Amino acid sequence: MINFTGSHILSVNQLDRDAIAKIFETANTMQPYAQRKKRTRVLDGAILGNMFFEASTRTRVSFGSAFNLLGGFVRETTGMSSSALAKGESLYDTARVLSSYADVIAMRHPESGSVSEFAQGSMVPVINGGDGPNEHPTQALLDLYTIEKELNSKLQTIDNMHIAMVGDLKFGRTVHSLSKLLAQYKNITFSLISPKELAMPDSIVSIIEDAGHKVIISDEIEGNLDADILYLTRIQEERFPSPDEANKYRGQFRLNQQIYTKHCKSNTVIMHPLPRDSRSDANELDTDLNLNPNLAIFRQVENGVIIRMALFALTLGVADQVQQHECDVNWFTQK
Ligand code: NCD
Repeated sequence: MINFTGSHILSVNQLDRDAIAKIFETANTMQPYAQRKKRTRVLDGAILGNMFFEASTRTRVSFGSAFNLLGGFVRETTGMSSSALAKGESLYDTARVLSSYADVIAMRHPESGSVSEFAQGSMVPVINGGDGPNEHPTQALLDLYTIEKELNSKLQTIDNMHIAMVGDLKFGRTVHSLSKLLAQYKNITFSLISPKELAMPDSIVSIIEDAGHKVIISDEIEGNLDADILYLTRIQEERFPSPDEANKYRGQFRLNQQIYTKHCKSNTVIMHPLPRDSRSDANELDTDLNLNPNLAIFRQVENGVIIRMALFALTLGVADQVQQHECDVNWFTQK
């Protein structure tokens, strides 16, 4: 198992089942602090460099909130044009500089491999918040944690489950990282549903197949949705050469209550990393599902905070000191 303290978290390839179990066990202990039942100041004085060189709402804000919830401070930069990368500075130099201002860095960047390159110049642990279409390890961990919780509440397990992944499986980094984590479990059926041009990369399909799982590849939603977990994705239009190219695929696969009732099991869990594209020509996940109890998208969001708290506590070596630095919450809270 990875020795978390001082380590970068760049890829799910670093995480075996023991490491995943350690992260989930640590995340469970973060629940009272995330729900504001208690505070902890275990990271009092520590600084997170939250470096997002590509669009983000939930990942950026939840990394920041997670760090604040542990008592630390957050320094943030957003967008490429407002950083010195736009003046030709290398990722290595940027990392050397930014890591002298922080104790840990969370980073997102539009190019595959960029966060690993950045980590080589960093003097502090770097956590990958998404590197182009390549990987999104923290999203995969929060997705896996959500899948486990949702299935356990229905007395099911990840082993032997059926997951259907739908949409842009070529550019969707969340499904790449999640598939690699799931490959470590047993006897899963993967239905990979996408337009042919946006199919899951062969390298990921091979990892799943070589681990002994069943893979069904289809470009049709009909007949493929009666899964235990249905994981929808947005067409990643920012990765296409032009908006027109992306428009060819937007709106091709949609889920609404009517389709759910017709094609899914009565308890199929609906997941999406968000943002869902709510424009009328896309609308891959209709708001008429908002009251469906099997819609887990906002539970994924909540789980994202405790997973990121766990990763900070582990990489900064304070996971066993969180409670020691506990104090009361003295404001009104409804969580
Ligand atoms: C995803 C991403 O950025 O890869 N969003 C997220 O982090 N929750 C998915 C997406 O943007 O479609």
